[in-house]
Amino acid sequence: MQDVVQWLKENGGLKIVNEPLDVELEIPHMAYVEVKLEDSRPILFTHPVNKAKGIEYEMPVLMNIFANKQLTEDIFGKHPDEVAEGIEALLKLKPPKTLKAKLAMIPRLFSLKNVFPKRLKSRGECQEVIIPREEVDLDRLPILKTWEEDGGPFVTMGQVYTQSLNGEMQNLGMYRLQQYDKNRLGMHWQIHKDASHFFDQYQKAGKKMPVTVAIGGDPLYIWCGQAPMPHGMFEMLLYGFVRNRNAQLVKSLTNDIYIPRDVDIVIEGFVDPEKMEIEGPFGDHTGYYTLKEPFPVMEVETITMKKSPVFAATVVGKPPLEDKYMGWATERVFLPMLKPMAPDLIDYNMPENGVFHNLILAKMKVMYKGHAQQFMHAFWGVGQMSFVKHALFVGEDAPELEEAEALTIHILNRIDPEKILITSGIVDHLDHSSAEQFVGGKLGVDATGAEVEEGVAAPLNDSELLEKMQEISGNVKDLRQYFRGTKNPVCVITVNKKRSQRKLIKKLKAFQSHIKLLVIVDHANNDIDDPYMLIWRVVNNIDAGRDVVLEPFIAIDATNKSELDGFEREWPGDTFCTREVLEGLQEKGLIDIDETFIRKFGLLPFDRIDTGKQVSET
Ligand SMILES: Cc1cc2nc3c(=O)[nH]c(=O)nc-3n(C[C@H](O)[C@H](O)[C@H](O)COP(=O)(O)O)c2cc1C
Repeated sequence: MQDVVQWLKENGGLKIVNEPLDVELEIPHMAYVEVKLEDSRPILFTHPVNKAKGIEYEMPVLMNIFANKQLTEDIFGKHPDEVAEGIEALLKLKPPKTLKAKLAMIPRLFSLKNVFPKRLKSRGECQEVIIPREEVDLDRLPILKTWEEDGGPFVTMGQVYTQSLNGEMQNLGMYRLQQYDKNRLGMHWQIHKDASHFFDQYQKAGKKMPVTVAIGGDPLYIWCGQAPMPHGMFEMLLYGFVRNRNAQLVKSLTNDIYIPRDVDIVIEGFVDPEKMEIEGPFGDHTGYYTLKEPFPVMEVETITMKKSPVFAATVVGKPPLEDKYMGWATERVFLPMLKPMAPDLIDYNMPENGVFHNLILAKMKVMYKGHAQQFMHAFWGVGQMSFVKHALFVGEDAPELEEAEALTIHILNRIDPEKILITSGIVDHLDHSSAEQFVGGKLGVDATGAEVEEGVAAPLNDSELLEKMQEISGNVKDLRQYFRGTKNPVCVITVNKKRSQRKLIKKLKAFQSHIKLLVIVDHANNDIDDPYMLIWRVVNNIDAGRDVVLEPFIAIDATNKSELDGFEREWPGDTFCTREVLEGLQEKGLIDIDETFIRKFGLLPFDRIDTGKQVSET
């Protein structure tokens, strides 16, 4: 990572903060603000401290390594599309028929030998310093506490290396780790993830599970850790493929797990399947807290490191964040791997404000009736794609998927309730909207084909419509119609919720000549003029099976749910920054943001924003 730091200084616009900053909130808040800027840059914090614990750390913290598309591409050493092309070519590989074809295949096959990780007999640079069991103290690492209500400090860019019980399968997954004390970490591998499947094997066998966590090294390891590789495929194969160079692995000192030789810090240990402990809460990449839940615990046996390590970390919360750029590369690289099960898929896009699994846009060549529905089921049935809650399909005549406005118009002109599929399936471990954890509603929109014929029969302007609605319910506070020129304008209203919105939707039946698509959000902490964050809120908050009504017009209840809705789980809160911390950073000249920025990205609860655009309490 010292090399990475040097490279980032020379080529990546690295910001260096020499001022002592606290690992609790200060460092994460600064990184959080930075990565939301148009020209966001990586930051090196050379003097991390923990004021509450009275610690000055010996190593710097590097954040926002994937601060923008260019850096992400530079980390890959090529455009992710180029990696995708390589994968596609491999998947299409056919036995050569002619001598010429055979010869042409040699370089490709030869380069494949670089895919397989190499296990070295020697020790690695990551083992230059060895801290034995009795001296292990996780407080030596500048582990960050990101949010005020987090259950503690969390390692946020840990590469978690595990292996199956029989040792035949290796896995690298990026899972957060909660620091409980000097030598114990909470292992937040979610139920659908590979390490969790391995854990089940150890649990059944009543054996302790070895785990090694690495931090730092080549940033591509980090990206590989979050890549949704099929079960049983070691992510280091992907590393070798992208780099065209074998990953060089060395054995952990206290278990049989191999880790890259050049990572900065290595935490080795065991998970006892008998011992679970409460993990969280943690302000997550959904922009909400994930609630407390029991997870396995790793007991640390040893920590090894380079002589001058760098501690890599990230901050997650409301979009846009670093995972936007990591997710972009993942989306590009994995396109060819989706095609074998959806051959007429042209492209797909997972916008970051849909926090990836909440929204997917896909372009396809339609060959027959029901083709889009076939793809919906295919997506919902495969690997981590099955977490996707809302899938919108367009035909090959649609604008590019990244052209948000043109694409939205194209979709809105094609929305037909008859072509909307609402079903249920598995949802991401973190999803908070479904009545039951792990399983919930799925929404598929087939917007392929021709435009629908009917638009709004009797359009009204915003103030007329709001006035009429307020005659029906005084709890409706604000209204804005988007894309009025389309067949299905989106009418967004904010409400001070006093009862289930089902009742309001029923009462609004009389509005069917004025509305085609109604979206309801809470008045608190939603800005009716901020479509980016409205989309974030809506796709997070809805369970299509419960919250989407197709008659007499399409109505989506994206309010927070509670006992008013018969919702029995705890509804988590938003991730909000701590005002005093933002002010402190601003006073030090480390960030430069105004109230408009704070509101735009939901950094603080709206009632804590002093100036700028106020929430109207009419
Ligand atoms: C910043 C970041 C943090 C993540 N944290 C977790 C986590 O705590 N638990 C988890 O199961 N997945 C987490 N993920 C997602 C996994 O890394 C991802 O699903 C990965 O493909 C899992 O690998 P696996 O399929 O080998 O288990 C995170 C991803 C990112 C980018």
